[in-house]
Amino acid sequence: MPFDANVFVLGTGVVGGALLEILRGPLASRVGVLGVANSRGVVLSPEDRPDAIRPDELAALLARPRGAASPRIEDGVLDRVAALNGVLVDATAEESIGELYERALARGVHVVTANKKPIAGPFLSRERLFDVTRRARRARLRYEATVCAALPVIGTLGDLVRTGDRVRRIDCVLSGTLGFLCNELAEGTPLSKALAVARERGFTEPDAREDLGGADVARKATILAREVGARLETTDVVLEPFVPREVLEVSSPETVEREVAKLDAGFEARVERLRRRNEKLVYLARIDVDDRGAVSASAGPVAVPATHPAAQLQGASALVAFTTARHAHDPLVVRGSGAGGAVTASALLADVFAAAT
Ligand SMILES: NC(=O)c1ccc[n+]([C@@H]2O[C@H](COP(=O)([O-])OP(=O)(O)OC[C@H]3O[C@@H](n4cnc5c(N)ncnc54)[C@H](OP(=O)(O)O)[C@@H]3O)[C@@H](O)[C@H]2O)c1
Repeated sequence: MPFDANVFVLGTGVVGGALLEILRGPLASRVGVLGVANSRGVVLSPEDRPDAIRPDELAALLARPRGAASPRIEDGVLDRVAALNGVLVDATAEESIGELYERALARGVHVVTANKKPIAGPFLSRERLFDVTRRARRARLRYEATVCAALPVIGTLGDLVRTGDRVRRIDCVLSGTLGFLCNELAEGTPLSKALAVARERGFTEPDAREDLGGADVARKATILAREVGARLETTDVVLEPFVPREVLEVSSPETVEREVAKLDAGFEARVERLRRRNEKLVYLARIDVDDRGAVSASAGPVAVPATHPAAQLQGASALVAFTTARHAHDPLVVRGSGAGGAVTASALLADVFAAAT
């Protein structure tokens, strides 16, 4: 019996791994796996069974040591994926993967991504991707998972814009990781310990400095601002990092937790001062659209009263509140788990079904 959808999965880390687990379990009979790639290599399904990679070959790929050059997905492989109405699923954090998207889309392969970089990258590169998608016979490009994992943020915003509403402001907690850190700090956990737990639970970016410096939030804010028509670049987002830039500059992805430990005492004192005033530290982003349609975006750590909606979030939850002409007095709010492997994988799968069916 044919599958509902066929996928080629890029990335076998927190998100890609969770996706493959779902595909081995509850969706095994509904979604075919045409191929899997990580930074160490590629596994393709056999010619005589094009919709199922061999488990032993996948296990061998996962067991390979890191360090080899990133694999190239050849055009012939993409043609094979296109012939089965397949979907290329990007669960990597690769910056330069836009070139692969363009080749895939041009061949009729749908692209579904959790990777913000191609969508939040230079405006002209993103426009080129959208152009290729428009010109492609039937391929679709979907990226709901890039902002707040499985929360319906891009779809909701797209519906508001398409139906002629006028977005005036978007207030958001866009980073599940920073939200988690703020919640743990409020509970008395040292920052470095909270960061280690966030990494263990799969909330952080592959390089946690992208969370701590605000780059991850700036990318999400850029994606949202572009949905309302702005030609904004990530560098236009007025950004205050969560921890001082100097700490991030002297650290690497491997040493960042050690460097951040030097900030533990300062954060503890700051959070305690706020607690005595019945306030909480949160990391807020805001997108404003003025009466002439000009869009600006900013993000940074702020102290809010304990009754503020952002202060009430638990764990790695996120929140996006849309104030529009139609939702002027009571913003339309989307809220829930904003990070983690399983929820992000579910967002990718929802986009896979939407693209392929
Ligand atoms: N974690 C979350 O909560 C969350 C939520 C929303 C969106 N996202 C996004 O999802 C993406 C993945 O995040 P993650 O947490 O799963 O990261 P991760 O655990 O570091 O996994 C990244 C994966 O990408 C693979 N990879 C790197 N370069 C590649 C290449 N050129 N070709 C094929 N595969 C390549 C890596 O290969 P190796 O295994 O060989 O290193 C690894 O398997 C990121 O863009 C992130 O922003 C994550």
